[in-house]
Amino acid sequence: MTTNEPAAALHRAAEDALLAPSILNTQPWHWRVEGANLDLYADPARQLHAADPHWGLMVVSCGAALHHARVSLRAGGYEPVVHRRPDPHQPWLLARIQAGRACPPSPASLRTYQSLRLRHTDRRAFATDVRVPAAVIAGLRSAAEAEHAHLYQLAPQAVEYLRYAAQGARTAGARDKVHTAELRDWTSRGADDGVPPETVAKPAARPVPTRDFGLGSEAALDPGPGDDRAAEYLVVATAGDDPTDWLHAGEATSAVWLAATVEGLAISPMSDVIEVPGARTLLRSLLHPTAQPQLVLRAGVAGDADPPPQSPRRPASEAIDVT
Ligand SMILES: Cc1cc2nc3c(=O)[nH]c(=O)nc-3n(C[C@H](O)[C@H](O)[C@H](O)COP(=O)(O)O)c2cc1C
Repeated sequence: MTTNEPAAALHRAAEDALLAPSILNTQPWHWRVEGANLDLYADPARQLHAADPHWGLMVVSCGAALHHARVSLRAGGYEPVVHRRPDPHQPWLLARIQAGRACPPSPASLRTYQSLRLRHTDRRAFATDVRVPAAVIAGLRSAAEAEHAHLYQLAPQAVEYLRYAAQGARTAGARDKVHTAELRDWTSRGADDGVPPETVAKPAARPVPTRDFGLGSEAALDPGPGDDRAAEYLVVATAGDDPTDWLHAGEATSAVWLAATVEGLAISPMSDVIEVPGARTLLRSLLHPTAQPQLVLRAGVAGDADPPPQSPRRPASEAIDVT
């Protein structure tokens, strides 16, 4: 993809960013293309009040969209300039992007751009006998560090504690009626947002339980033959815990996920262990004392099975304004 018109490249970047992952596929962003600026706003109408009362995961999701927009601009032949949280009087304005100087795209940036369309959440258990190579994990760690975040690979003993955290998060979530109603809403939406039951794996035993979407027999994705015993659990963490850190965590999540896609890995995030304070505290105790966990990525080698169905997206006409 190449485009020499900065305004067209910004518009294209906003469109490409709509492919970004987001918590429960809420797509909690709004884009505005205005002259030489592309502005990214969080959309508070799309906040999850029970799961994400402090809107950290909403901003992490917007950070993933911001990174997608940067990837698009690089592939379009620009070196984007980003001002994060540029106006203290507009807290929902998370970033202002300019196309920046023209710069021919590298083969690596074009590969990353291709992965925007290949990336998806794979909630099936991963195969037992295929581990993610250490060199690939090292590359993912570098991708996170380039985005002002860290990526921790949990050792087997730490995975045991993650299991407790995930079990605790499940129990807490099931007990909270507001939370279960919110989940119900976002798994039974119309055509263009939310988590379709066809993308949720049917229940199966795993060493670390993943989010219970409360769908029971409506979960329609075949869980596959894997049992997740070779899954890696990678924690995206930041040094601080404010909105700029959440934005960086989202950018790092996208960077890691796209790099993993290029390497043929499959990923599904786990944020229930971030949403439930006790689970997050336990997770935090497994990391460096100053690290703030922002998201867990369950990673494995993608099997031969077809990818799960794609999750829908809102139309560009709804999520992007051009003025
Ligand atoms: C911040 C964040 C939190 C997420 N939490 C979970 C989760 O706890 N469980 C899960 O299965 N998927 C989780 N996801 C994945 C989203 O549900 C997924 O990105 C969305 O449904 C769109 O689907 P796609 O990634 O296939 O495009 C999360 C994604 C983000 C960005």
